[in-house]
Amino acid sequence: MNYQWYPGHMTKAKRMMQENISLIDLVIELVDARAPLSSRNPDIDELGKQKSRLILLNKSDLADPKKNLCWMNYFKEKGFYVLEVNAKTGQGLKAIQSMVREACKEKIERDRKRGIKNRPVRAIVVGIPNVGKSTFINSFAGKACTKTGNKPGVTKGKQWIRLNKELELLDTPGILWPKFESEEVGKKLAMIGSMNDEILQMTELADALVTYLLSYYRSELLRRYQIEEEGQIFTAQEVMAIVCEKRKCYKRGQEPDYEKAAALIIDDFRSGRIGQITLEEPG
Ligand code: G4P
Repeated sequence: MNYQWYPGHMTKAKRMMQENISLIDLVIELVDARAPLSSRNPDIDELGKQKSRLILLNKSDLADPKKNLCWMNYFKEKGFYVLEVNAKTGQGLKAIQSMVREACKEKIERDRKRGIKNRPVRAIVVGIPNVGKSTFINSFAGKACTKTGNKPGVTKGKQWIRLNKELELLDTPGILWPKFESEEVGKKLAMIGSMNDEILQMTELADALVTYLLSYYRSELLRRYQIEEEGQIFTAQEVMAIVCEKRKCYKRGQEPDYEKAAALIIDDFRSGRIGQITLEEPG
């Protein structure tokens, strides 16, 4: 997937989202628990303002558990329904059904008053690239669900996944463009893997990541690369040099291969091998 966004892409994505949102009752928005603000696009607040909203703090297994709690509170205070989940293992997904009922209680009540029975809540899953939308739809919908709509010769239109008699999910997620509003945001998105690696300066990115880890997750970083603390203050460059040595990242002629070490560190971070790390705090 190409994560570069141009005005044309954004207009198209926005148009599709507007079209789809008009059909639904509930927006299920996935954010990355490691950078919950940077991985959101606030345009969704405008697009989904008449709808019930549920935020899923996904990839919570990779993020700092204490910070997950802070972020849950942050979103609750903003008036969202929010849950901490791991779309990959399915952890946390069981709680969604009752939260959907709660989030959509006004719609359910409206239907009841009008005598409409058994009209399921219709939901769309949205989020920036790589936040886990497809993984979530697969785990949440599982294999037991049935697809409705688009049956040959029967109906034309959207594909809905019927989860149960109360809930239907649009089978194609809505892709939101990341907001790149500052270099800081861009860096965090790059660290969590929400940008095309080909356009990134990996050594610069690893340098910024290591600098952050040295300040906030120092013991996790040093433990991962078996670096003795001994009271010295390491700079990011020193850490990178040690990683080159320990992991045998050399170019021909024993010259340290910083690019290789940078890719290794970023990969370790993205897959949680350094530890459960969050890159930003509410504030
Ligand atoms: P998208 O549709 O929003 O673009 O994202 P997608 O589902 O393709 O997920 C992107 C990557 O994030 C996938 O990894 C997926 O397995 C992983 N992922 C999704 N949710 C979670 C989660 O809660 N925790 C963790 N740890 N990972 C998650 P991948 O590297 O592309 O594939 P794979 O190595 O998992 O096969």
